[in-house]
Amino acid sequence: MSLRQADTIAEVRAAVSEARRAGKSIGFVPTMGALHRGHAALVEAARAECDLVVVSIFVNPTQFGPNEDFARYPRTLDADRAVCENAGCDVLFVPAVAEMYPAGFATFVEVPALATGLCGRSRPTHFRGVCTVVAKLFNIVAPDVAYFGEKDAQQVRILARMTRDLDLPIRVSPQPTVREPDGLALSSRNRYLDADQRAQATVLHRALQAAAADVAVGERRADAVRERLVRTIATAPLARLDYAEVVDGETLQPVETLAGPVLLALAVKFGETRLIDNHSLFVAG
Ligand code: PAJ
Repeated sequence: MSLRQADTIAEVRAAVSEARRAGKSIGFVPTMGALHRGHAALVEAARAECDLVVVSIFVNPTQFGPNEDFARYPRTLDADRAVCENAGCDVLFVPAVAEMYPAGFATFVEVPALATGLCGRSRPTHFRGVCTVVAKLFNIVAPDVAYFGEKDAQQVRILARMTRDLDLPIRVSPQPTVREPDGLALSSRNRYLDADQRAQATVLHRALQAAAADVAVGERRADAVRERLVRTIATAPLARLDYAEVVDGETLQPVETLAGPVLLALAVKFGETRLIDNHSLFVAG
């Protein structure tokens, strides 16, 4: 089936209802465009499991802070369409801002318990914007399964909680982070990096690997693991640490001693470009 584009809520709803009437399952991949192989992997996962695959491309203004990159966020719709088509998308939903946020829009969804730490500390309104737009997209598309990347570990945990707490009949499916051969996690923001910053950006993955290696040989003190992250990031002269955290993999609260699910999480700035990465571990009793 060739790719259909829907620009309005009514159009995408019509395409999904037609598939539903035919008994098809619906897979959904929300994105902000500037698509890369990480996004394509989500679409392929949806293609493998669902009968109709819907992708949305919407640069969501409510999840950007006042001094963030909303205006200059890369918009590459023609290239994105090709990525979607090759990865097996059936319906591409590309709403305008006024379609999603008409005048008078006043309702927000938040999960404060999971959204105040990590990225929430330097981006206090970010996850409220993410939850609000994803709740809307879930209601518009009404998928069976929605696919998100572990690259944004805090985001996928918040959205899974929102889905459960609001009884949305949708399965949130986390997917592994896709990386460049040198370990850098693919991100739409990598294109902002100059050559020197790009070369040094591998330090995030190296720091996570070094910290995970410490845990593998028995380190259980969170402050020592965090220190390994901080010291490794400091070896890259262009890197400025936003945060390095060792938190419970479910509650996202800081831990003192590693046990059970643990998330090692990093945010590092190169110039104005903020990169994030993380590593999940399970530390058996
Ligand atoms: P965006 O940054 O475009 O990412 C869309 C999806 O792709 C997210 O689930 C993200 O985790 C995933 N992704 C990004 N890089 C990845 C990588 N290297 N490997 C695997 N998956 C990756 O995240 C958003 O958009 C927005 O916040 C959104 C959820 C669409 C709400 O506006």
